[in-house]
Amino acid sequence: MNPFKFGDPVEGEYYLPRPNLDKLVYQFLANRIHVVLIGPRRLGKTSFVFNLLKKLEKEGYACPFVDIFNITSHRDFLQQMLRALKAKKNWADAAKTWLANWRPKISADVDPVSGQTSFGLSIDRGSDKDVKDMIQDVLAGLKNLGEKVILVIDEFQKITELDDHGWLEATLRTHMQQLRNTSFLFTGSRKSIISDMLNNSSRPLYRSCQSIDFPSFGEELVDWVIKRFAEVEIDIDRAAVCYLKQIVQDTSNYVQMVSFHLVAAGYKKIGIQEVQEVLKNVIKQNAYAYQTLLNSLPALQQRVLRLAAKENKQIFAKDLLNKYEIRSAPALSSSIKALKNKGILDEEGKGRGTVIFDDPLFAIWLKESCDTWYDGDTLNEEQELVIK
Ligand SMILES: Nc1ncnc2c1ncn2[C@@H]1O[C@H](COP(=O)(O)OP(=O)(O)OP(=O)(O)O)[C@@H](O)[C@H]1O
Ligand SMILES: [Mg+2]
Repeated sequence: MNPFKFGDPVEGEYYLPRPNLDKLVYQFLANRIHVVLIGPRRLGKTSFVFNLLKKLEKEGYACPFVDIFNITSHRDFLQQMLRALKAKKNWADAAKTWLANWRPKISADVDPVSGQTSFGLSIDRGSDKDVKDMIQDVLAGLKNLGEKVILVIDEFQKITELDDHGWLEATLRTHMQQLRNTSFLFTGSRKSIISDMLNNSSRPLYRSCQSIDFPSFGEELVDWVIKRFAEVEIDIDRAAVCYLKQIVQDTSNYVQMVSFHLVAAGYKKIGIQEVQEVLKNVIKQNAYAYQTLLNSLPALQQRVLRLAAKENKQIFAKDLLNKYEIRSAPALSSSIKALKNKGILDEEGKGRGTVIFDDPLFAIWLKESCDTWYDGDTLNEEQELVIK
């Protein structure tokens, strides 16, 4: 068995606990302070939440988990809420009662195996007004789920993409204030969007939640990875694990992914060189996708990505703009904005000039492919001219 897993949320022996964060988030939620956990993608937010919910459920909390990563409409949002309620029989039973009025609009699910019809909580038809009313009813109905409820909405910044003039944001806010038994736990990966939601006084969720920056692992991840390798009798240098962790920007998913491939490759002793080898292969496998993504962007945005991958700090410095053929700081700003909207980049905190890549492997690929363009002696004449 490979001791590493990547891609989906992990639990059990594949999950390295985060006891301090558990305590912190627990304290807030238990005191009915709503929480937003913000962190870059693939750091382990969903795994963390699943793990915490297991503990909370043992203490009698009802914790519906709503994943809205793929929603495109209010109907999708409602569907995901209903799906979350269906996850436990007693919640589904309670929901059936409070949604009784909507029965004609809620379709029956037919079990494909037994052929039996059960009362499924999935919406059938309905105008946008119906859907909005139903969302209100589902949220208001959380008061019937018991004395202690935690509603989790994963990837919650998605609600800003619904073109509804903030209706869903405002609706959530109303219920966050009214439901005396429910704490809301949101997670999100787009820091700049979420900061605006919470800190802009004209928006409904202004100061409605405690926001917590999802911390990346420190040395404890290095220890854990070494121990996991040792369990399958593989000896890995500490320096190699530190190198890996740093090069993937502390992203747990990629630490586990590369470790998985290292085990699969059959090495018994691993140093930095083996890590580099595997990393190179992983990136090679994705090269086509990266190239396609890059080609789909306007030339200026491509250059901004190269700049960001190579320099990642102080990218507004004048000599860098020249070097990467970016005409002005405003041109750079608007490209960064476009790349943020596409989910490719995000800006670190409020500080201008530090950007992070959604996918650190894409950054490595870019950096390597740029080396041939921008590094010292490999420049061709034309590029030298540009730089001068
Ligand atoms: N606590 C942890 N211990 C060890 N590995 C972890 C941990 N949390 C996450 N991972 C690794 O990261 C991967 C992704 O985890 P998860 O889906 O929870 O992250 P996420 O931040 O929710 O990602 P996304 O942004 O894609 O939603 C897991 O498959 C696992 O390899
Ligand atoms: Mg997730």
